Amino acid sequence: MKTDFDFEHLIQPTRIHRDLYINPDLFELEMDRIWGAAWIFIGHESQVPAAGDYYTTNINHNVPVVMVRDKNAAVHVLHNRCAHKGAKIVTQRSGNVRGAFRCAYHGWTFKHDGSLLKIPNKEGYDDTGFDVSDPINNLQSVAQVECYRGFVFATLSKQAPDLVSWLGGAIDCFDNLCDRAPEGEVEVAGGVLRYEHNCNWKFIIENLNDTMHPMVVHQSVVQAAEDYISSLPPEAAKQKSEAEIILPFGASYENFEQSGITGFPYGHHYDGGKTSIHADYSVFPEYLAAMISAYGEARTREIFSFNTHNTLYYPSLTIKCAIQNIRVIRPIAVDRFVVETWSFRLKGAPDEMLQRTLLYSRLINSSGSMVGPDDLEVYRRIQEGLPSNANPWVEMHRQYGREEIHDDRVTGGGTSDLDMRTQYQAWKQYMTGEAFR
Ligand code: FES
Ligand SMILES: [Fe+2]
Repeated sequence: MKTDFDFEHLIQPTRIHRDLYINPDLFELEMDRIWGAAWIFIGHESQVPAAGDYYTTNINHNVPVVMVRDKNAAVHVLHNRCAHKGAKIVTQRSGNVRGAFRCAYHGWTFKHDGSLLKIPNKEGYDDTGFDVSDPINNLQSVAQVECYRGFVFATLSKQAPDLVSWLGGAIDCFDNLCDRAPEGEVEVAGGVLRYEHNCNWKFIIENLNDTMHPMVVHQSVVQAAEDYISSLPPEAAKQKSEAEIILPFGASYENFEQSGITGFPYGHHYDGGKTSIHADYSVFPEYLAAMISAYGEARTREIFSFNTHNTLYYPSLTIKCAIQNIRVIRPIAVDRFVVETWSFRLKGAPDEMLQRTLLYSRLINSSGSMVGPDDLEVYRRIQEGLPSNANPWVEMHRQYGREEIHDDRVTGGGTSDLDMRTQYQAWKQYMTGEAFR
């Protein structure tokens, strides 16, 4: 496998090389140096509410892990690999292991924190040099695990800074998502939408804050929504409010420009802040009353006035504070990845809020929706177009040099390529080993 890439050549200030999307060796290096180093989103604590509850996923394409809650309510993230001969310990997506993990091959058992509990017929190891208390015989914990407001992250790197430092100023979006709950907490609800896309994983995270595409790619669906709304009788208020979720995807260049983009170290960014395409949703009176009773009027106004569209925690997680759903990215190969959409219930809020979140996930993110497949179609077209030798470069010049640089963040126009430049600076730092130096 080739590892001696010239990263200065591949990532330039305003363009990146196509090999980032089509070279299998570069993909393997990304899995090792980006996905094997950054904090990767594993799941939400509410997915494992009781002792023994587990949820399995992958940190990168070949590192399976299991998130599990122990009897003292602590949440662990363990390598999903038996300490004996390497069998995967848990094969289901989620469930409960009751008292202990038990390997299906030779029956070794492990406590919820991964420590070895029992080996059948253990006398066979007497006088062999096998040390039952050696930690190598436990299910191994990943290098670091941390949780922020219920969101569990893990990293395979001991050098990664603590999670809060790594999230930096982009942490405001986690706070805003949770503060929108009258009880200050959210929980997973309504199942998951999980799809495999036949293209490189970076297309979806580049697309999040690409505000030059919605009015083009989604033009036909916005037109259809407008036609539908104008055909509705006045009493069809519910159908009208549902179809209105689609209209902001046809917002003008000026609107998107005003919303702005903010970039942070380690490749995180969001668009919006004072305003976003989610800013004009109606507020259900019962929800507003619950928020005011929990926080008071001034704080409630403050919470609602922070209005972002998409936030990326590079490379694995994208969240929507105002709509309470998230998308989780899991690469599989240079031209394949899985994306999951999870919806959240705001604790203490009326059920209408969850219904709107679920409706949004179905209308916008589902493969059966009218918006998400538009984006997927263009990702595939890029994957098919890039191998052409016509031009090896993907450009990202828009508003280059017009960014404002602050202590902990960079801000720029909403239609700029600031988001891509932020991501690829981080990409280069991870790939050259500079990120945590
Ligand atoms: S591989 Fe797990 S007990 Fe043997
Ligand atoms: Fe889109």
